[in-house]
Amino acid sequence: MVTFTELEEKQKQFKEDVLMGLNSSPKYLLPKYFYDGFGDKLFQQIMALPEYYLTDAEMEIFKTRCKEMMLLVSEFKDGFDLIELGSGDALKSSQLLKCLSDNKVNYTYYPIDISGDVLELISKTLPKAIPTIEIQAKQGEYLEALKEVTRISTRPKLILFLGANIGNMYPQEAESFLLELNDLLNPTDLLMIGFDLKKNPWTIFNAYNDSQGVTKEFNLNLLKRINRELDGDFNTELFEHYESYDPCSGACKSYLISLADQTVSIGSEVLKFEENECVFMEISQKYTLKEIDALAGKGSFMVERHLFDSRKLFSDVILKRK
Ligand code: AVJ
Repeated sequence: MVTFTELEEKQKQFKEDVLMGLNSSPKYLLPKYFYDGFGDKLFQQIMALPEYYLTDAEMEIFKTRCKEMMLLVSEFKDGFDLIELGSGDALKSSQLLKCLSDNKVNYTYYPIDISGDVLELISKTLPKAIPTIEIQAKQGEYLEALKEVTRISTRPKLILFLGANIGNMYPQEAESFLLELNDLLNPTDLLMIGFDLKKNPWTIFNAYNDSQGVTKEFNLNLLKRINRELDGDFNTELFEHYESYDPCSGACKSYLISLADQTVSIGSEVLKFEENECVFMEISQKYTLKEIDALAGKGSFMVERHLFDSRKLFSDVILKRK
C-alpha cells in the first residue's frame, strides 16, 4: 500500500532532484524520472522501434536460452527468489517465468520498479498468463527494495538486471553499484545483467535518434511531467533533443537543448536557460566483453557465462560473487 505521505515524500524528492539538477552547471535531469504513466508508454514505443535493436536481441536470448538459465537455478533445491531490478513490463523475463512454472520449479517472483503503474499492470497480467506464479511487486529504488526482500526471505536468489538498465550508470557508478549489490548477496546467489555491446557506432546512434522522434518525445515528456506534477511552465517547443555517441568510451548521451534565451518557473522557482544551453538527460553506456569482465572484477564478481543473441548485439552475463 502506498500511503498519502509516501506519495508526498516522493513528490518532494522529485522536486528536490529537479531543482538540484537544473541549478547545476551543466544542467541535468535524472533518467529515473522518465517513467511516469506517459513515459512508460513512450518507452514501450521505443522498444518497438525498428532502430532499437536492444529489446529484440535480449528477447531472442530469453526465447532460446531459458533451459540453460533454468539449469543454473536447479542447484536451488528448496526453491528460490527471482528478483528483477527494473522489471518494467517483464516482457523478457516472463519467458523465463513461464519456463520455470512449466517445469514446476518453486520460486517467488519479486519485480522491483520505480514505476508503480507498470507493477500494477504486471501484477494483474502475469497471473493470467502463468496461473501458478507467486508474485510480490515492490515499488522503489533497486537496492532499497532488494534489502526489503532479503528481510522477508532468506532463500537463495537469482537477481535479474536486464535491458541494459546498467547503461544508465557511468562505469564508475556501475562499479559501486555492483559492490553494494555484492554486499547483499550470498556466495551461491546468482546475478544476471543485460549489457548492450559496443558495435558499429551508427547502429547505436540510430537506436537513440529514431526517425519517428519517439526518443525525442520520451525526453520532452520529462519536462511535461515537471509541468504536470511540479507546477512547471516549460514550453517544450523551445527545446530540442540532441543525441551523441562516443565510440571510444562507449558513452551514448541524450541532451535537451534550449532553443532560446528563456525563463521557466517551477512552482515559485524561476530558472534561466540560455540559447543553446544543454540539459544532460541520460547516459546509455555500451561495453566490450573485456570491459564487462573488468567491471565484474572491480565489483567483486566473476563472470560465469555470457549469453548472446545470434547477431552478438547484446549479452546477458551471468555472475557470481568472487
Ligand atoms: C531503459 C536505460 C535501458 O538506455 O537504452 C532508450 C532507456 N532511453 N532510449 C536505454 C532509453 C532512450 C534505455 N534503458
